[in-house]
Amino acid sequence: MKIIAAIIGMGIGQKHLEAIENYKKSRVKIICEKDKRKIKLLKKRYPSKIITDNENIIFSDKEINVVSIASFDNFHYKQILRGLKNDKHLIIEKPMCLNEKELKKIHLLLKKKKHLKIISNLVLRVNSLFKYFKKKTSKKNIYYIEADYIWGRKFKLYGWRSKIKEYSIIHGAAIHMIDLVMWILELKPINVSTFANDKLTKNTKFKKNSLVVILLEFPNNILVKISANAAADHEHLHEVKIFSKNQTLINNNFGSYISKNGQTYKIKSNYPDKKNRKRLIQNFIDYLVKKNDKLIVNHQEQFDLMSTCFAAQKSMLLSKKIKIKYL
Ligand SMILES: NC(=O)c1ccc[n+]([C@@H]2O[C@H](COP(=O)([O-])OP(=O)(O)OC[C@H]3O[C@@H](n4cnc5c(N)ncnc54)[C@H](O)[C@@H]3O)[C@@H](O)[C@H]2O)c1
Repeated sequence: MKIIAAIIGMGIGQKHLEAIENYKKSRVKIICEKDKRKIKLLKKRYPSKIITDNENIIFSDKEINVVSIASFDNFHYKQILRGLKNDKHLIIEKPMCLNEKELKKIHLLLKKKKHLKIISNLVLRVNSLFKYFKKKTSKKNIYYIEADYIWGRKFKLYGWRSKIKEYSIIHGAAIHMIDLVMWILELKPINVSTFANDKLTKNTKFKKNSLVVILLEFPNNILVKISANAAADHEHLHEVKIFSKNQTLINNNFGSYISKNGQTYKIKSNYPDKKNRKRLIQNFIDYLVKKNDKLIVNHQEQFDLMSTCFAAQKSMLLSKKIKIKYL
């Protein structure tokens, strides 16, 4: 199978294009973009590709076998349904969708379309430092993790993120840290309690909470604290501490460390390791062209992650602990 792809949305979608184009003979045939100024630039940059503002062209093109959905969050759900109904494999930006009802519909449709695969772009799984952390810890010894998403780009809140009714920094930012923790522990949380505020942004265009703290209770009495901090005056950072019986692994803005026997040692690390991010999409292509048989993120993990995010959102809205229901 040779990949003939289309991309919807050319923000992070540009990175999708770079991951796909020429990888294992793959080609991006169509780019769909709504912004007229970007369309002009794209036509110059990619004279041999079809550049359109009409997604119908993608879904009705029989040659297209992979669609990359990098549009605003509120478009993902409908584009996923259209993609699956038209027999396309999908690369989906997080979050897959914005509520449980949509998640259930996608889950159901995917059950009927067993020949199709989807991948959510959960890039921390291919980060060399976090891969090292996962390898270096015996998961049965972990008892506590702190994983903080410090956004550091507050201005981003005031664009499309301010306009979408169901936008949440849980689904937009905390999601990466929740996934990282579920991947490292290879476990699903049982309960979630969320606390949040809009203290630093309430007088701005962004009318949702811009700081969220999530407590996850995992099996084996493991506790996890996640935060999504979109208001901070701070560099963009995934700050992580993994506490286990005999050591603590740390990533912060000064570097990466291991602490044991009362001493802290620096670890050589490529964090933020942006050049490896395309490996997730390229692993998906490898899978589709049958060069490997293991996806970095499987379907069930993607649904479990979304169920956890929706339960965290519910806990925030109801101000109470929620038992997470999985599909
Ligand atoms: N995985 C990650 O690390 C990561 C990082 C950044 C963004 N994202 C996700 O990617 C998506 C896009 O975010 P972004 O930062 O690239 O935003 P952006 O504003 O930088 O770019 C989005 C682009 O998509 C276009 N667009 C939006 N909806 C469209 C539609 N229906 N049809 C055609 N074009 C459309 C916009 O005109 C814009 O050019 C969001 O869902 C976001 O959560 C993921």
